[in-house]
Amino acid sequence: MPNPMDSFFNQIAKNIEPHNLYAPVNYIMSQGGKRIRPQLVLLAAELFGAKQEDAFYPATAFEMLHNFTLIHDDIMDNAPIRRGQETIYKKWNSNIAILSGDVLASMAMQQLLKTPCDSVTLIKMSELFMQTSIQVCEGQQYDLDFEKQEVVTVDEYIEMIRLKTAVMLAGCLKIGAILAKASEKDQNVLYQFGIHLGLAFQLVDDLLDVYAEEKTFGKEIGGDIQENKKTYLYLLALQNANEIQKTKLLHYFSSNNYNKQEKFNAVKTIFDDLRCKEKTEKKVDDFLKKAYQNIEELSLTGEQKEKLIQLALNLSRRKK
Ligand code: IPE
Ligand code: IPE
Ligand code: MG
Ligand code: MG
Ligand code: MG
Repeated sequence: MPNPMDSFFNQIAKNIEPHNLYAPVNYIMSQGGKRIRPQLVLLAAELFGAKQEDAFYPATAFEMLHNFTLIHDDIMDNAPIRRGQETIYKKWNSNIAILSGDVLASMAMQQLLKTPCDSVTLIKMSELFMQTSIQVCEGQQYDLDFEKQEVVTVDEYIEMIRLKTAVMLAGCLKIGAILAKASEKDQNVLYQFGIHLGLAFQLVDDLLDVYAEEKTFGKEIGGDIQENKKTYLYLLALQNANEIQKTKLLHYFSSNNYNKQEKFNAVKTIFDDLRCKEKTEKKVDDFLKKAYQNIEELSLTGEQKEKLIQLALNLSRRKK
């Protein structure tokens, strides 16, 4: 039995014209994915006492906004597959992917505005939603800039992933809390929890890009290395490399024209020799600890806090 959210996503862009605008929207929205963002909205709303039927609107709106960012992200990252299927700009073309992404972003905002609540709450939610989408663009621009920038510090990297990834997870939690009229303090602490969760989430994504099973992950392994992405693994490697390793890293990350497999193997060998995977996993744990500290500050019962802890654990142990 499909759940109400899947049924909703399956029909939002079905059989409407122009076909080439909406067919890609229908394609990506009915693909699934982990649906983490709506889960965060619904959980926050539940924890602070909002009606689940009302939270459905911000939950689905954020999942739509997320999918819009993915459509454009795949163009920027030259990614051939997502969720085990061809990416939209590959299956159709880049112009179609740009426009179907644009329409999906507007549909997301339209969906948010349907939330049955008072106008002050609706404005607060809308402000957060728009702020989030602006910040994602800022993060995505840094991500692209860093491909060409030889020196990127760890702090710059953390700020980039805070913007491109963490603010959306944090925004999902906070929007649920706003709808539920949680206290300002709880809203802000929950947001901070979401930021720490999101930072851990992106580090795991960076790890999976090198170490996951392609079939399970649903994306091409090694895409970040191919695109010269300054991931945490890469920054660690460069920090700890000897002269020979450093020369190799800089050589491979100076162009996209090397043989893909050869570049991947050479870079992964350096990552492995310098234990970058283990060090990144340690950083994931550091962010999780900070997230747990945030949970402690929330005015929730032990049982409710446990739900947030479990969620963080599941996201950090995921394989896709
Ligand atoms: C992918 O997000 C983009 C990142 C922020 C890493 P997800 O890993 O949540 O993707 P889906 O929606 O489950 O496919
Ligand atoms: C995700 O970064 C950020 C956004 C989509 C906004 P990535 O480029 O690492 O995401 P994936 O790995 O393609 O899903
Ligand atoms: Mg990408
Ligand atoms: Mg990207
Ligand atoms: Mg990635």
